[in-house]
Amino acid sequence: MAASPSETTDLRLDPATIAAVDASDMLADVAGLPEHVRDALWKVESANLQPWDSPGGLVVAGMGGSAVGGSLARAMLGDHASRPILASRTYGLPAWTTPDTTVLCASYSGDTEETLACYEAAGALGAKRVAVTSGGKLAELARADGVPVIPAAGGFQPRAAVAYMTVSALEVARLCGAGPRMGAELDVAADHLEQLVIEWGADGPEDSEAKTLARALHDSVPMIAGAGLTSPIAYRWKTQFNENAKIPAFMHELPELCHNEIVGWTDAPMFGRFAAIFLDDSDTHPRIKERIAQTRELIGDSATGTHVVQSRGNTAVERVLSLVLLGDLVSLYVAVLRGTDPTPVDVIDTLKQRLAADG
Ligand code: F6R
Repeated sequence: MAASPSETTDLRLDPATIAAVDASDMLADVAGLPEHVRDALWKVESANLQPWDSPGGLVVAGMGGSAVGGSLARAMLGDHASRPILASRTYGLPAWTTPDTTVLCASYSGDTEETLACYEAAGALGAKRVAVTSGGKLAELARADGVPVIPAAGGFQPRAAVAYMTVSALEVARLCGAGPRMGAELDVAADHLEQLVIEWGADGPEDSEAKTLARALHDSVPMIAGAGLTSPIAYRWKTQFNENAKIPAFMHELPELCHNEIVGWTDAPMFGRFAAIFLDDSDTHPRIKERIAQTRELIGDSATGTHVVQSRGNTAVERVLSLVLLGDLVSLYVAVLRGTDPTPVDVIDTLKQRLAADG
């Protein structure tokens, strides 16, 4: 049972306190992000893929923690993407998928039915397929069909393998002609992440940005806003609050939220405690920065807090990964403050079992 908010605000977030709640050591997997980035580059190399040409671009077909790598890779590439790159999260492929499109089937477990359906659909279309997985049915089918498999390291919750999924999507984008080589940027970003793990991790100061934000958010429903490069990261934060902290969380995008969601804040206190988090970046359009400032002022009285979080680093790869790490840590710390083990996602497992029994 989760602790009530009033019992938790003074809790420290030191390694021993975290370990007492984080029974399966999700913290180690989150703090391992820099190493995962480097290992993922090796894993792609080990698949020994030779470049090919896909004028139709790249579809990353997956769900949840496996799909997000496609959206994050897209954000990292920004204007350097020379062909369409899309993360698709459903049973079928986008209508515009042709034999000229590459379909990267991303499923950490390899057993996700939506992704397996896309694998079949891509095969039926004659599209070039690549799989990234730690095993399961996807690995089995791909090996039998001679489809290349990028191996993701085993033993994680799928959402903790985000680096493997992101790096695979970036590398497959390069191989199929949709994006440039990003290996050097990824190496630099891994070094940068190591510094951030020291600053924001469990051994970091109690008043680090990550721990401070977790304390501020732990008894509110987080409403995360992104724009441009930070939009898919806002979605990652939302899903990490859902799965690690086991709380409702919502995301929206600027400038769109200024045209609807902003009104919904009017009576928010009648429905509960809501906090706004704006993910900002050095590349954010100046008018969007102005919108963030104005929106904070206008919704401030209805929110338990409004927070602006800046990405860190020089390249887009560094900046995206910095915010992914921060959100992963904040959601894990919120779980700890709530007395909730971050790792299990029992209801997802139950749903998958029920659907498998029905199917
Ligand atoms: C669990 C998680 C989920 C899974 C999703 C798809 O940690 O993040 O969102 O990613 O249920 O499963 P996989 O990734 O195995 O295809």
